[in-house]
Amino acid sequence: MKLFSAAILYLAYFNYASATDCQGLESTKAVDECYMKIALDYALIHNPGFPFGALIVDHTKNDISCYGANSNKKNKLLHGETAAFWNCTELYPSPTQDDMFNPGLDWSHQTLYTTGEPCPMCASQSIYRGVHRVVWGTSIPDINKSGRQQLMISMHDVVASAKIGANLPNPEVPILEGGVLKDACDHAFWCAFSVFRDQEYYAAMNKDGLEAYITDRNTRFPCKDVPEGHDEL
Ligand SMILES: *[C@@H]1O[C@H](CO)[C@@H](O)[C@H](O)[C@H]1NC(C)=O
Ligand SMILES: *[C@@H]1O[C@H](CO)[C@@H](O)[C@H](O)[C@H]1NC(C)=O
Ligand SMILES: [Zn+2]
Repeated sequence: MKLFSAAILYLAYFNYASATDCQGLESTKAVDECYMKIALDYALIHNPGFPFGALIVDHTKNDISCYGANSNKKNKLLHGETAAFWNCTELYPSPTQDDMFNPGLDWSHQTLYTTGEPCPMCASQSIYRGVHRVVWGTSIPDINKSGRQQLMISMHDVVASAKIGANLPNPEVPILEGGVLKDACDHAFWCAFSVFRDQEYYAAMNKDGLEAYITDRNTRFPCKDVPEGHDEL
């Protein structure tokens, strides 16, 4: 019930963007922000307590291939990006049942949009799946500083570790871009993860001299109209 009313609130609060809204846009920045807004809306509707939402977009057609939201109630491993990879693979199965060599989607034409920087698990999948580009809003250090546990390995580091035979750098790794609609994504995580900001968190932040970070977030990102994270782990 709480979740349901939160979803209604969000539908009313946000001007829900649709795929067609992104099609008339010219600049990469405008297109990126448009799709990120859709990813964020999708996340806030499907799992406001863990607002990780993802979209896979065919950038050659400027059209959405599929969606994914963090689905940890169903399966803890279904991070938004993982959910989107599985969703697209199911929606576009290999015509010859050979997803390795003949996938149903041209993954080199796809861009992954995700509200949070991919964790090492999802970053690895982006490399294995062979998307052309990965775009995110909030960085792993900012998610961490919102109070939520993280694997503190950046996607840049995961990508830099990708090698082909003879330990040569893999030339086909995705292009990375972070910080798209950063404030809107940071705001959503800051409020959703307020439930994780316990005494230990405040002690660690103080020890690291990050009191000003907390003050700045609380000032810029009020949580009055944003549903708080619920009791989902
Ligand atoms: C999978 O993507 C489709 C097509 O974009 C979307 O309608 C559906 O809601 C997505 N499923 C999940 C579980 O996100
Ligand atoms: C991670 O978050 C903790 C608070 O939970 C903080 O003390 C620490 O400095 C943060 N580290 C980084 C690299 O953001
Ligand atoms: Zn992940």
